[in-house]
Amino acid sequence: MGKQIKKIAVMTSGGDSPGMNACIRAVVRSCAYYHIECVGIFRGYQGLIEGDLKKMNARSVHHIIQKGGTILKTARSKEFRTKNGRQKAHKQLIDNNIDALVLIGGDGTFTGGMLFNQEFNFPIIGVPGTIDNDIFGTDYTIGYDTALNNVIYAIDKIRDTASSHNRLFLVEVMGRDAGFIALNSGIGAGAEEILIPEEKLGLKRLLESLKRSRRSGKLSSIVVVSEGDKIGKNVFELAEYIEENLPEYEVRVSVLGHMQRGGAPSCFDRVLASKLGVKAVELLLDNKTNLMVGLVNNKIKTIPLEKAVKGNHEINKELLRMSDILSV
Ligand code: F6P
Repeated sequence: MGKQIKKIAVMTSGGDSPGMNACIRAVVRSCAYYHIECVGIFRGYQGLIEGDLKKMNARSVHHIIQKGGTILKTARSKEFRTKNGRQKAHKQLIDNNIDALVLIGGDGTFTGGMLFNQEFNFPIIGVPGTIDNDIFGTDYTIGYDTALNNVIYAIDKIRDTASSHNRLFLVEVMGRDAGFIALNSGIGAGAEEILIPEEKLGLKRLLESLKRSRRSGKLSSIVVVSEGDKIGKNVFELAEYIEENLPEYEVRVSVLGHMQRGGAPSCFDRVLASKLGVKAVELLLDNKTNLMVGLVNNKIKTIPLEKAVKGNHEINKELLRMSDILSV
């Protein structure tokens, strides 16, 4: 039998993602439902170190389910990476009588949480929130679906101008070292080529594919490039390289950037965030700790935080083969 949990704190950390607010709402309302006190920590680990906390109740989270970003703000705290920073964070939790933490974030957030749990044995549940979808132990992270939709709406617009000018567009999308956003938005937007870090297409093959595309009668093309792709050139150098080697192509670059992370969360992300937020509180009340809660084959599952951090969420490369078929 562990300690009875009477007060839970919730924070968002790392890059914001659409749906984080829906998850905060789910955590706060679950606490209210189970008559547990709830505290919001502002600016992630940095806010925790500095004691930037606020009591929250069911009404504190009204009308936020539809909002992008995070009402709790977020940060990538350098101080929390130090032992001294983590000690300060722990002292804040103790001084404020907080019994457990719900961490909404990605890889970096969970790595910090895992260390913190090892050092102070403090109860923690992680909820995967990042647009990158690069977390092991869940099929989807909160915000990924919305980011995909943001990307395809943007590419649909780029397609109009690309086709009007008979141009080739290189569209760079986010994802850090993972190609989930590029691969799935590329399929969804009907891209001619998709470049992801997990698969080395190679410059030669790319040129061949573009030549083939021209020969088949295509006058304009979209190539989706994941920001982490290691083709050997950044997206601007790649544009120059293509123009030098294929003068028949007029190339433009569009880096979609942070617009991918903003806007109202999709229904999928709202529902996912709500399910995972409720489960996180229930797990803590059940004295479970050091776990991440995720969605696997449409079922809510937990795995040890350590596995979530160390494991590799494999991308479905079969989709690349399909993309070749679809862009013939
Ligand atoms: O992890 C989410 C993400 O948007 C990545 O896709 C991207 O590489 C990174 O964050 C950008 O971070 P920042 O907003 O700190 O520049």
